[in-house]
This record gives sequence, structure tokens and C-alpha cells, in this order.
Amino acid sequence: MADFHQSIASGPTSQFPALDIDTSPHDYSDVDSGFGASIARTENSYAVTMGSGICPYVYENGRRYQVFREGVYMLPNDSEEIERLDQYHRIFLALLDGKLYIAPLGEHSQKVRHVLDIGTGTGAWAIDMAEEFPDAEVIGNDLSKIQPPWAPENCKFEIDDIESDWTYPENHFDFIHLRSLSGCFEDWGMVLSRCYNHTAPGGYIEFQDYDCILKSALGTVPNGAVARYWRMVCDAAESTGRIFQVASTIEGLLKAAGFVDVTVRKELWPLGPWPKDERMKEIGRLTKPGLRSAFHAFASALLTRVLGWTDIQVKELCQEATQEINDGSSQLYVTAYYVCGRKPS
Ligand SMILES: C[S@@+](CC[C@H](N)C(=O)[O-])C[C@H]1O[C@@H](n2cnc3c(N)ncnc32)[C@H](O)[C@@H]1O
Repeated sequence: MADFHQSIASGPTSQFPALDIDTSPHDYSDVDSGFGASIARTENSYAVTMGSGICPYVYENGRRYQVFREGVYMLPNDSEEIERLDQYHRIFLALLDGKLYIAPLGEHSQKVRHVLDIGTGTGAWAIDMAEEFPDAEVIGNDLSKIQPPWAPENCKFEIDDIESDWTYPENHFDFIHLRSLSGCFEDWGMVLSRCYNHTAPGGYIEFQDYDCILKSALGTVPNGAVARYWRMVCDAAESTGRIFQVASTIEGLLKAAGFVDVTVRKELWPLGPWPKDERMKEIGRLTKPGLRSAFHAFASALLTRVLGWTDIQVKELCQEATQEINDGSSQLYVTAYYVCGRKPS
């Protein structure tokens, strides 16, 4: 797989039909309002505390953020972001041909009774998993309370910081899942070794995310607006100690934590419907409409809070990056990683 990946990044497109270009070519919804809330303003932001004291939010440059462990996670949690996460759920599934995981769950007559979805977001994966395994208890953990109230009975959500001490029993979970969490943790080694302690013997862990490394099927190093945008975001994230480019390190970290039978699957993820190959084109088609929102979600707090940019500067950069995506001629893609491992019995 590594060779495949490398050659894609450097070779001419025609050798890789899935990445041949197809030569044939979004608006922000506003944030939720606070209800029964008290409001405290600063220059660029205002905090809203709900009357009950539950779910306080901070609003900044038109986006809503969680207040619990404020600043630890720099992406918004408003309705626009919820829509984006649900769309990314569909894309992650499409990349796996509809499957929720690559781990060989249920093989070797291992029962799936306890599942933990770390950083569950809208809970879409946890809900699907609870439906697939009606006899299992699925826990979705997150800093933000953005999960729907209508989850199946065997799916529950908990608001907690996974970087704090865990209250879950050790040797407990038959499956721990972490998706789209690059840039969330200061110390991935610590989080994964904690996962190891809390995985049941014979149980599995799975990481799913893209590598956050921009490539072009043209075989050239991307140097347009998207590359400029991504460099800024990665630099800002790095200076907070929470780097985005972790996917390629997860295999080694899982092995170091003690997991065995570590398996890596990589899938190309085109940033637009430019490939000729129908499956790849469909992934790009699903991805393109949400990219403008994704650009803003990743950049807004990081570039304003960390690099001191103005909201207007951020929006201009996002606009330029969106234009490059709409143009499609840069043939940009990233690589999705699905990495799973087993705790020895
Ligand atoms: C990009 S979203 C991914 C959501 C979900 N896993 C998915 O794939 O749709 C990242 C989520 O991780 C959560 N998160 C970030 N840091 C966290 C932490 N320390 N503890 C718990 N959740 C965290 C965020 O609140 C956010 O909902």
C-alpha cells in the first residue's frame, strides 16, 4: 500500500486510471441562538450560558464553540458543523463501500458487547453501530453535546474529556473507535495506550481519518490556494501542540501500545469530482459541496486565535481555496487511513 501511495504522489496520472481527471466542471447557515441565556461579550466573541447551566457555548466570528474545556478543540459545534460532520460520515462509509469498520469483529466467536466511540461528534457512527449490534452497548463520548435525542436504546452519549482520567473499567471494551480526531490530542501515544488498558483481551481498536497531506494526481507538489490554506492551518495547529498529520503514525503507535495484528487500509479521497473512475468521482462529488464549510471550520478559530488573523482575512483565504476546488484542475486528493489492531487474548 505504501508503494502504491508513493507512486501515486509522484507518477503520471495515466498509470492510475482511478485518478484520471474527468474533463467535463455553498452558503453558510447561521449559528443557533441561545435560549434562556446570559451573554458575556468580548471584542470578537460572546459566551452564552444556558439558564440551566447546561451546554454553555461561546460564539466567535459567527461560529459556535463548546465551552467545556474551552480552547482544547478549535472547531465549531454549530448547525453548519453538524451538517458537515454528518456528510463526512457518509463519505467515510462510501470510502469503505458502506462498512462502518475494517476490524474483523465477530470473527473467532468474539462477542461485541461494549463499544466506545471516542469524540463521537453528532453520534452518527455510534448510532449506526448500535443498530448493527443491537445486543451491544455503544457509548459515544464527546466534549460537545451535539448528539440527537433519538438514538437507539443501546446507544448512549457522555460528555467528557477523553484526555482526562477515564472512569471506564479496564479490559472492558470489545471495540474502541476513533474517527476524524487528527488535531484533537496533544499526546496520541497516551490516548492509545489508555485505549489499550480499557480494551478487553481479544478486543479491537480502529482509527479512521485522512492524512491531512495534500497531494495532486498531476504528480506535482500542490502550491495553490488550498496548499497555502492548509500550511497556515497546520502551522497554527502545530503551535498549539495538536498536530493534524497523525494518520501515518498510528500504525506504529498502536504497536507501541501493545496492539497486535495491526492492519492498515488506505483509500484515495479526491477533493472534487475530477476523477474519471466512477467510484472515485462519487467520493469527490460527495466531498466538494462541503469543502467551503470545512475550510472555514478548520481555519476560523485557529487562524484568528493563534495567528491573530482577522475574520475577513480567514474568509478571503477560504474563498480562494474554494475557488481552486471549484476549478478542479489541480486534481487534489488526500489519503484516508483505516488502521485497526487487536489486544492479545
Ligand atoms: C471532527 S469531529 C469528528 C466526530 C466524529 N468522530 C465523526 O467522525 O463524525 C471531532 C470531535 O471530537 C471531539 N473531541 C475533541 N477533543 C476531544 C476530547 N479531548 N474528548 C472528547 N471529545 C473530543 C470534538 O468535540 C468533535 O465533536
